[in-house]
Amino acid sequence: MTTLTKYRSMDESTTEDWRAVANSVSGDTAGMSDLILEMLKRLDGSSLVAPVTPYEHSLQTATRAFKDDADEEIIVCGLLHDIGDLMAPQNHAEFAASLVRPYVSDINHGVVLLHEIFQGYHYFDKVGIDRNLRERYRGHPSFQATAHFCEKWDQASFDQNYESMPLEAFEPMVRRIFARAPYSANRTDHVNYFGFRVNMTPGNATATNAA
Ligand SMILES: [Fe+2]
Ligand SMILES: [Fe+2]
Repeated sequence: MTTLTKYRSMDESTTEDWRAVANSVSGDTAGMSDLILEMLKRLDGSSLVAPVTPYEHSLQTATRAFKDDADEEIIVCGLLHDIGDLMAPQNHAEFAASLVRPYVSDINHGVVLLHEIFQGYHYFDKVGIDRNLRERYRGHPSFQATAHFCEKWDQASFDQNYESMPLEAFEPMVRRIFARAPYSANRTDHVNYFGFRVNMTPGNATATNAA
């Protein structure tokens, strides 16, 4: 295999190596969209016992948002909010939120991140949990938007008789959102070298010497 860079460890890599690495990935958004759409399709046929598959649920959520004239960004969030159902079933909201974070607003990142807890408002009481656990996030900038997302679109999208739009209808939207310059739509603290961006605040991590 021929490669442009030759370092055996990062310690011995050069500035020019990193310029090449950054150039190789910047602008490669088409590849990312393809991977995301493939991941979404993997949810088809997978059974989580719910009345519809996670794939149909995802399409249904996005379709309801679309029909309510929601903006493109939250429609795509609706399409992808459960993409981690198989790979990260115990923290699928964090998984999806990480995926969309560089490309969406702080508000919509919060919607995807919090939806797992806010969905509980619609069923936690049936499994012996306080349905109002979302109140822990009262005052969060995404509180109202997440409550709306769950009530109108997410919790309502398990209908076997609903006619969802096909994935093809959403593909151009996915490609447009992931074609954005990373972190151009939000305030996530990041650094960049030669255009490649590194998130400086992963998850809820807070630097001990943060200002
Ligand atoms: Fe979910
Ligand atoms: Fe969902």
